[in-house]
Amino acid sequence: MSESFKTFLKHTAKDFHNQSVNPPVVRASTIIFKTMQDIRRTQLKAKKNPTGGHYDYGRQGTSTTHILEKILTKLEESYHVFLTPTGFGAVFLAMFSILRPGDEIIVADPVYSPTRTLSQDFLKDFNIKAIFYNPHDLKTIENNITKKTKLIFVENPGSNTFEFQDLGKIISIAKKYKILSAIDNTWGTPYFLKPIKLGFDMSIVSATKYYSGHSDVMGGTLAVNRKVFNKVYNAQRVTGLRLSPDDAYLITRGLRTLDVRLDKHRDNAKKVSEFLSKFKNIKLLYPYKKDSFNFRMWKKYYSGASGLMGLRIKSKSKNSVVKFVNSLKLFGHGYSWGGFESLALHQNVREQGLRSYLKLADNEYIVRLHIGLEDPDDLIADIKQALKHLK
Ligand SMILES: Cc1ncc(COP(=O)(O)O)c(C=O)c1O
Repeated sequence: MSESFKTFLKHTAKDFHNQSVNPPVVRASTIIFKTMQDIRRTQLKAKKNPTGGHYDYGRQGTSTTHILEKILTKLEESYHVFLTPTGFGAVFLAMFSILRPGDEIIVADPVYSPTRTLSQDFLKDFNIKAIFYNPHDLKTIENNITKKTKLIFVENPGSNTFEFQDLGKIISIAKKYKILSAIDNTWGTPYFLKPIKLGFDMSIVSATKYYSGHSDVMGGTLAVNRKVFNKVYNAQRVTGLRLSPDDAYLITRGLRTLDVRLDKHRDNAKKVSEFLSKFKNIKLLYPYKKDSFNFRMWKKYYSGASGLMGLRIKSKSKNSVVKFVNSLKLFGHGYSWGGFESLALHQNVREQGLRSYLKLADNEYIVRLHIGLEDPDDLIADIKQALKHLK
């Protein structure tokens, strides 16, 4: 590809057949053929070239989902990208493709809480053991590897607490012990970090977030290298985890402006960070402070930062933190980030009991902010007035 990815996103998927600048939404359960020979020919083509868009049934996809797979395969610089109905569906597909009864999985301690529940509780019923590692002490990976370990599952940065890990080191450990590796890259997306190029076998993005960008669609993507392609291909076929053509279309539409939006989320988040860094009772969980381990690890691997950040707040009481969050007027209170709008949540990390390694003092609380595309000066003014309620 000679042009930059920014140009590619604007010019891809034009439909010269219908003369439309965007691809059509092809909805189909039945794929029809003129003759039985045509069906057999398509099936043969699909066998020879499973990523070529040769379908004989709607569940496998249509031209609309195929276009999105192709765009994302380029963006990820991967062998292929599988599409799923939600981001969490992609997490499940990654684990289901690799793990079998008797296996073990090593998971980053600060993963997204449903990922933790899936690996720690649900997989146990299938005799699959999950062990959690300390994101800032990778000996806790190596010390827990056994002959049964099949997968290392990373999320970077950590959910809510935003630990940036030494990704290169994790990949070296995985390769040394011949264990497969997967990463949830929803925060950075392949616009800022390309995990497959770095050496991960699988990379997940919740397309619900920055890919779609408008908080009106759910989807997930699982990028893979050649080594794991067949395993995921077979697992997807037997689970029927597929993205609908309508959702694929909306995600393709969102991708056109992924770079523009993420650049703006980054710039806005930087401005808000500058403001928040002045408060002694707030520790910014965002790659802003240059002398921190998290900053160095972010700088080493990422080309930019998105709009999601954490605040580790020292406060007299939870009520006062909740009051601060409730007093924000431009920030909505809701979970699914990555859209155009700013969001704020008090996250009950301690109460949920979902961490083995996190040390939070009794007077420390976590607030998550998603910095949207509004005027950053308005966001700062809003945070300023709300902070008056923080004691
Ligand atoms: C890091 C991360 N991974 C995966 C998911 C799940 O994505 P979805 O909501 O599309 O299922 C989320 C959702 O918040 C997330 O934050």
